[in-house]
Amino acid sequence: MVARDHDELISKAASLSKPALFWKRLGREHEVQLARHGFDAVKRQQALRYFTWRWSWRSLRGSRQMRFLLAHSSPSTLLRCLAEPARHSSHEWEGVPWSRRDRWLYVTAARLLWEYARKHDPLSVLSLPEPKLGDPLPVRWRGRLISQDLANAALETAAITRALDNVPPLSILEVGAGYGRTAYALLESFPEATYTVVDIEPALTISRWYLTRLFPSERIRFLNPGEAESLGARSADLVISISSLQEMTPGQVVRYLDLFDRVGEGGVVYLKQWRSWMNPEDGIAFDFRQMPIPPRWRLLFDEPAPVQANFQQAAWRVGW
Ligand SMILES: C[S@@+](CC[C@H](N)C(=O)[O-])C[C@H]1O[C@@H](n2cnc3c(N)ncnc32)[C@H](O)[C@@H]1O
Repeated sequence: MVARDHDELISKAASLSKPALFWKRLGREHEVQLARHGFDAVKRQQALRYFTWRWSWRSLRGSRQMRFLLAHSSPSTLLRCLAEPARHSSHEWEGVPWSRRDRWLYVTAARLLWEYARKHDPLSVLSLPEPKLGDPLPVRWRGRLISQDLANAALETAAITRALDNVPPLSILEVGAGYGRTAYALLESFPEATYTVVDIEPALTISRWYLTRLFPSERIRFLNPGEAESLGARSADLVISISSLQEMTPGQVVRYLDLFDRVGEGGVVYLKQWRSWMNPEDGIAFDFRQMPIPPRWRLLFDEPAPVQANFQQAAWRVGW
């Protein structure tokens, strides 16, 4: 019996660690980018396949994010965002081969997003500096460097704070952290908390590079999915996954939800994913509402995510 349990654990670990074809390909692309640019351009390279959205004129009409931002901006805010001079030179946008028009659009959209997030930022995440580490895009507003990633992290932190009922978490687990944009906001917002990142390569190495340059190593640890299987019960009081479950196989989603159930017992789970998404490479259709949420989780909220209008965000209390 013991041997069988052990075998089961090993096979579970192997299956969590094996990325879907979608991430196998992206992981290879990211390795090539790392070899070419090193880590120093992570916010201009890999981040564009994590959660840094590009807005281009070509896809503008179908952009629900842009529609959301325009619908939630006053005419005077829009005018101010358009009128403020911006930096569009190829030198400033090195490594980002977008047209000047697309750079202009990006700057305008990031400013509109910032203005929206300013109204939904109870923990003042937007007062944090955007780290120069990773070479962020040159978007300036209100006399400082701003970023789409920090604005989105502010909105996520606001939703998480609501789920936690304003009780600061002491141990946070994030699955699929990208380079660590949300981890940065949460580690700054909750200075007593420790943080565990669970990810596959090369993202695990990238977030380790980023976060250990910003925070003391005692506060953060980095685990591959196999190692995460041995995390203790009730070892996190906040578990999050943002835009990562949808890119896994259905079996992996079930296993991660089981893991969250065990590790996060008594705490809060926050998920933000595409409402529905077709992963063509693996032939998998993801549906937020079809996720097999453990029955003992108590729903705290389930709502469309702000700005990324194709995303849903929900939070649960596990077990109590
Ligand atoms: C779209 S990115 C989102 C990154 C980050 N959450 C953000 O919002 O910036 C998806 C993340 O999921 C991770 N991922 C993919 N498959 C995974 C798996 N089987 N186990 C853990 N993480 C995985 C990727 O490496 C990446 O970090």
